[in-house]
Amino acid sequence: MNLPTRVRIVEMGPRDGLQNEKQIVSTEIKVELVARLGAAGLPAIEAASFVSPRWVPQMGDAAEVMARIERLPGVSYPVLTPNLQGFEAALAAGATEVAVFGAASESFSRKNINCSIAESLLRFEPVMAAAQAAGVRVRGYVSCVLGCPYEGEISPEAVAGVAATLFEMGCYEVSLGDTIGAGTPGKTRRMLDAVARRVPVDKLAGHYHDTYGQAVANVYASLEAGVACFDSAVAGLGGCPYAPGASGNVATEDVVYMLDGLGIETGISLDALVDTAGWISERLGRPPASKVARAVLAKRAKGCH
Ligand code: HMG
Ligand code: MG
Repeated sequence: MNLPTRVRIVEMGPRDGLQNEKQIVSTEIKVELVARLGAAGLPAIEAASFVSPRWVPQMGDAAEVMARIERLPGVSYPVLTPNLQGFEAALAAGATEVAVFGAASESFSRKNINCSIAESLLRFEPVMAAAQAAGVRVRGYVSCVLGCPYEGEISPEAVAGVAATLFEMGCYEVSLGDTIGAGTPGKTRRMLDAVARRVPVDKLAGHYHDTYGQAVANVYASLEAGVACFDSAVAGLGGCPYAPGASGNVATEDVVYMLDGLGIETGISLDALVDTAGWISERLGRPPASKVARAVLAKRAKGCH
């Protein structure tokens, strides 16, 4: 089995990671988190979300975050834009990459963005056109690719249909979200095989939440299928406010530890990542969710290698 030799990680901590926190996290902490992640070598850091502040108050300071972050050369700082209003605000705030987000489940689409799947795709069209005119890259997300909190099972064909539409609309990459973290490796593989019949595998990314502890295994199954881009969040932060019961993203340090072990390059420093996991977890008043961060921090505390 030939695994990719290099993997691109898209860091979700500042956006997916902090959008579901009960406490409001200050702009200052968000800006410092982005800086620390950049210094750790992350090539892409999703920095904010230009959604309705009534729906997701945690992301209400998106414009301020974008104004204050230091942008490193070669690093991208995408933001979520659900509609043209969000896109225009993102552009005014200096975003050079955005993401539209749809779902493979009708019920989740309604709960999350207040419209059907078909309506959401229509809403994305003017975003794609405006982005193209402004020279802004657009990534696409499909949520509920391995199950829905409201409908249960979702067919791989339904996922493939939405993913193909986003790709054909001009998204440069489609990120496949196991929003509720219920997937297992076999199911992940079946879903990917169906999607890869419609979208080239090198244009796909895996975005796996870790509710059932399967996310690292799902990343491995995806590597075997040829996927070489993954979304993850430092310290295992994250969750969607409209996906009840779901927990955080797969932790970036768990993924990087596994990839390091496989000899797959990421350009990311595991040490700096673990420092950042410890730092943000302290700010949030809890230990990191990830086993790798806990293990490394415990070893450091005991002074062993
Ligand atoms: P709506 O209420 O249907 O919107 O919400 P509307 O167009 O009818 O407008 C209603 C009001 O919202 C108006 O304000 C608009 O100005 C305002 P009012 O006149 O009443 O004062 N509004 C906005 N304000 C700021 N920014 C905007 C915007 N758009 C309208 N962009 C809407 C529709 C999509 C806006 C809403 O449902 C929403 O914001 N949803 C976002 C939910 C969300 O952020 N979920 C989490 C991200 S997705 C995720 O986490 C999954 C992912 O990680 C992958 C995975 O894990 O599966 C990506
Ligand atoms: Mg997510």
